[in-house]
Amino acid sequence: MATFLRGATLVALAAHAVSGAAVFKPRDDALGGNSWHKYVRSPSDYLLRPQSILPANTTGNVTNPDGLLGGNGSPTTLTRNEGDTSAPTLVVDFGQNVVGIVSITFAGSSNSSEGLPGLKLAFSETQQYLTNVSDFTRSDNMAAGQKLTNGTDQIAVSNEEYTWKDYTGCQFNNQVCSDGVHGFRYMKIWLDALESDSPYTQPYGSVSISSNELEWSAYLGTPDTFTGWFECSDEDLTQWWYDGVYTADMGTDVFRANETDPRNSASPTLEGKEVLFDGAKRDRDPYVGDLAVAALTTYLSHDNTDATRNILADLANHQRSDGWIPPASINNYTLDLYDYPMWWVVCTANLVMYTGDTDFATQYYDVMKKTLDDYFGQNLTSNGGLLNKTNGYGDYAFLPRSGIITYYNALYVHALKSAAHLATILGNSADSQTWTSRASSVSKDLLARNWDPAVGAFFDGGPCPNAAADTICNVHAQDGNGLAVLSGSVNSSLATSLLDYYGNATSKPYGNAFYDNDLLSTGFSERVYAFISYFELAARFATPGTSSSAFEEIKRLYGWMSTHDPEITFWEGIGPNGSPYEEGFTSMAHGWSTGIVPLMSNYVLGVRPTGPGFETWQICPVIDGGVLTWARGQVGTPRGPIRVSWSKNNNGTFGLEIEAPEGTSGVVCVPSTGFKSDRVVMDGEEVKQMADVPVFGPIATSGEGFTLIQAKGGSHTILVGV
Ligand SMILES: *[C@@H]1O[C@H](CO)[C@@H](O)[C@H](O)[C@H]1NC(C)=O
Ligand SMILES: *[C@@H]1O[C@H](CO)[C@@H](O)[C@H](O)[C@H]1NC(C)=O
Ligand SMILES: *[C@@H]1O[C@H](CO)[C@@H](O)[C@H](O)[C@H]1NC(C)=O
Ligand SMILES: *[C@@H]1O[C@H](CO)[C@@H](O)[C@H](O)[C@H]1NC(C)=O
Ligand SMILES: *[C@@H]1O[C@H](CO)[C@@H](O)[C@H](O)[C@H]1NC(C)=O
Ligand SMILES: *[C@@H]1O[C@H](CO)[C@@H](O)[C@H](O)[C@H]1NC(C)=O
Ligand SMILES: *[C@@H]1O[C@H](CO)[C@@H](O)[C@H](O)[C@H]1NC(C)=O
Ligand SMILES: *[C@@H]1O[C@H](CO)[C@@H](O)[C@H](O)[C@H]1NC(C)=O
Ligand SMILES: *[C@@H]1O[C@H](CO)[C@@H](O)[C@H](O)[C@H]1NC(C)=O
Ligand SMILES: *[C@@H]1O[C@H](CO)[C@@H](O)[C@H](O)[C@H]1NC(C)=O
Ligand SMILES: *[C@@H]1O[C@H](CO)[C@@H](O)[C@H](O)[C@H]1NC(C)=O
Ligand SMILES: *[C@@H]1O[C@H](CO)[C@@H](O)[C@H](O)[C@H]1NC(C)=O
Repeated sequence: MATFLRGATLVALAAHAVSGAAVFKPRDDALGGNSWHKYVRSPSDYLLRPQSILPANTTGNVTNPDGLLGGNGSPTTLTRNEGDTSAPTLVVDFGQNVVGIVSITFAGSSNSSEGLPGLKLAFSETQQYLTNVSDFTRSDNMAAGQKLTNGTDQIAVSNEEYTWKDYTGCQFNNQVCSDGVHGFRYMKIWLDALESDSPYTQPYGSVSISSNELEWSAYLGTPDTFTGWFECSDEDLTQWWYDGVYTADMGTDVFRANETDPRNSASPTLEGKEVLFDGAKRDRDPYVGDLAVAALTTYLSHDNTDATRNILADLANHQRSDGWIPPASINNYTLDLYDYPMWWVVCTANLVMYTGDTDFATQYYDVMKKTLDDYFGQNLTSNGGLLNKTNGYGDYAFLPRSGIITYYNALYVHALKSAAHLATILGNSADSQTWTSRASSVSKDLLARNWDPAVGAFFDGGPCPNAAADTICNVHAQDGNGLAVLSGSVNSSLATSLLDYYGNATSKPYGNAFYDNDLLSTGFSERVYAFISYFELAARFATPGTSSSAFEEIKRLYGWMSTHDPEITFWEGIGPNGSPYEEGFTSMAHGWSTGIVPLMSNYVLGVRPTGPGFETWQICPVIDGGVLTWARGQVGTPRGPIRVSWSKNNNGTFGLEIEAPEGTSGVVCVPSTGFKSDRVVMDGEEVKQMADVPVFGPIATSGEGFTLIQAKGGSHTILVGV
């Protein structure tokens, strides 16, 4: 998807091949050193302890409630005499959202006259949904007769000292059961027992707890694991980058039948492999559409590409004979989603670009071709050149829509162009041409059918509920409008228009809603998905002159999530008044909502691969928008890191330092207006303007003055206005 930047100019750089060191040399003073370590949210170790006991929530006879924090050397004791109606209770707070297997070390217990005392545990990501049942527990996704628990985990506390671990299963046949891995911030503990657990546990007696821990099960993203990092002059944006990484880390885990979504997701071909789940708490199944964001976050933060590759390979291996690719392993690979096969294509292209794994592309080339040509392509001609969704399939948000939907068509364009780029890389120019020309005809037809000139944005495209087929409901959606820009389906004036309309029509204190009204369903105009907002935000950074609206939207969206319980991690969806959109069921740590990471690394630093494994790259930082004066950071590549540091100086100059691995080359986009002069000096030599060079994908140019420089790997210092 090469586009040419109008008004941009190429600069010759013959004299700047850097010789010498093949090893990347860090320049810590200029490029940040370790100053970013303080933003990292990961626990420092696989074994972590709660941070505090919520004082207001300790009830009944609990002595030394802080004892289980391990601080004061004596245990916490819960005592309940026979007949006491109120159960001794305490709530531990792990300080932030965490995931893993809880363990409790007991100092002992005393029986009531009937036998061993029982403990119950309930988990929640937020205080709001912390009750006497977990906000979500794995058994909630099981059929009635198969549930291990009804929302609490049970313990029959032995009289001796020992450590109990929250494994999936039951202490006695099918009694005294626990649900295993939990994603949570708060855990409520109380002395009680299910009647159905008799005679093994009783709701009376005394229990002493000497410590409480969590065995972290996910990716432990300590500072030494970061191959990429980010810092800028806005402390919030910097912190949210690390919060996004932590959110994706929480969902990166080994696929195990007893720890994943129990709705027939267990899969012998995934068992034991590292994957990126959709969420830490639920559903704990790897969904390919979610990877469109979550995998980028992983590539840009850690060298942990297997978590994505394993999923893409497994889903491709389960392709249906008509070309459809399952979205995830749920329902034994049969959950009907319409858009996810197209996301598989986009994610596969991203994998190749970030990792250089062209073998993967070769191996699964036919899978890609079959989904684009057979599954989707065959229906185009009969429907006047566009995808017409006629089946009952859902999509990333299970939306009640069919017909000629802007989102599906714009995503198809995006997938076709991604595939065309891969085909070119693999030397298959015939497919590349076919897909490129199909992409442009779908773009053209989409604009002709679904553009709404009355507001200057795309209609969603389908009929209103109960309206005749081929009528168009007067509703506009974030997904289609964002993707239309990112897929290059519209020019920059239409992009500006639709982004303007969309921002004004849907702005909420907690982000931009995913629909501008409720004609399709109640509440749609109040619901925000950080996932689909990512594509609209990227469109704002990619469109000249609209980056200030991107920063403004990011501040609302990420600002909201980071200041509301559980804080730090980013939510699956946001509902009316900024609440979790599906109440306690909502996953409050969902990798698909971590778009802040690619937004900062790909746009604000501006680093993106243009060839497999960053063999070629572009560095096109977005420096306008009125928020930032400097940014710096690193993107890891298979050939070594790419580092960028830019600053707008008080004296009217602009400085950009880059370092890229030897043997690579790329294009640097330098803003050349708004400074003391438009003189551009690189490595001490004034650079001269020549001709246009290709830049991949739409990029922000902040209007006219913008200079493109071809550069080779090594270190370069570029100054503007000197
Ligand atoms: C914890 O205490 C607060 C303040 O009294 C109360 O609002 C909340 O409902 C309590 N939560 C639980 C789980 O008991
Ligand atoms: C609370 O339990 C302890 C034993 O752990 C007991 O000594 C104490 O009397 C109990 N307090 C009340 C108010 O019942
Ligand atoms: C406590 O109850 C358990 C189970 O009924 C029993 O095995 C154990 O001996 C009892 N312990 C004491 C100290 O009574
Ligand atoms: C908590 O449990 C009690 C029974 O022990 C029940 O009556 C009550 O409705 C439950 N509360 C919530 C919020 O689930
Ligand atoms: C859950 O609750 C239902 C209804 O009360 C009950 O029939 C079932 O046995 C309970 N299951 C478990 C595992 O506690
Ligand atoms: C799931 O099973 C594996 C063995 O296959 C075990 O190692 C792991 O601890 C179990 N997880 C839970 C939460 O019980
Ligand atoms: C899943 O589907 C495959 C292929 O259709 C079948 O062989 C397998 O038995 C199914 N597994 C389960 C658990 O239903
Ligand atoms: C293509 O059309 C067939 C027949 O109407 C339908 O069954 C199938 O779901 C359509 N595929 C897509 C991707 O819309
Ligand atoms: C889309 O499919 C529906 C349902 O089959 C049909 O009624 C409609 O005419 C189709 N639209 C176009 C433009 O082909
Ligand atoms: C953008 O596209 C629209 C619709 O095709 C066209 O009317 C307009 O002139 C184009 N604008 C630019 C700047 O090319
Ligand atoms: C919204 O409307 C105002 C006034 O027309 C305009 O200045 C602004 O740029 C628009 N766009 C967004 C995204 O807020
Ligand atoms: C402008 O300020 C920058 C940053 O302080 C400095 O590096 C540069 O030398 C200054 N340039 C001129 C021309 O004063």
